Amino acid sequence: MGGRSGRAVGSLLERESECERLERTVAQAVAGAGSVVALEGEAGIGKTSLLAQAVASGRAAGMRVLRARGGELERDFAYGVVRQLFEAPLRSAASDDRERGSGSGSVCSN
Ligand SMILES: Nc1ncnc2c1ncn2[C@@H]1O[C@H](COP(=O)(O)OP(=O)(O)O)[C@@H](O)[C@H]1O
Ligand SMILES: [Mg+2]
Repeated sequence: MGGRSGRAVGSLLERESECERLERTVAQAVAGAGSVVALEGEAGIGKTSLLAQAVASGRAAGMRVLRARGGELERDFAYGVVRQLFEAPLRSAASDDRERGSGSGSVCSN
């Protein structure tokens, strides 16, 4: 991560280019062109803070933001991150279906 203009974006200093890049990526995703962005850097450099900005941009653009966290303890669980991402929305989608009485949705896990 770079950028040294000294200005602040929200509470972040010297992160204009990273924030612009993330906002561009969110705008492209809203337009249907999804992508993967990796934030790398040493501890305390501001990765989590940048991610929070990206989440705020996504929500402001009307996106539903799902979050998951990879962890060592999760290595033994198949699809752990996928489950974190989709279990809650799938559960609420299934209960919406039940409320509508369609009964057509199902959620499988093992
Ligand atoms: N560019 C920045 N401007 C202002 N504060 C920052 C900046 N980058 C990090 N911080 C602050 O430093 C601390 C660590 O940031 P964090 O996002 O948790 O880093 P990381 O996830 O890379 O370990 C937080 O209190 C955060 O607000
Ligand atoms: Mg962090």
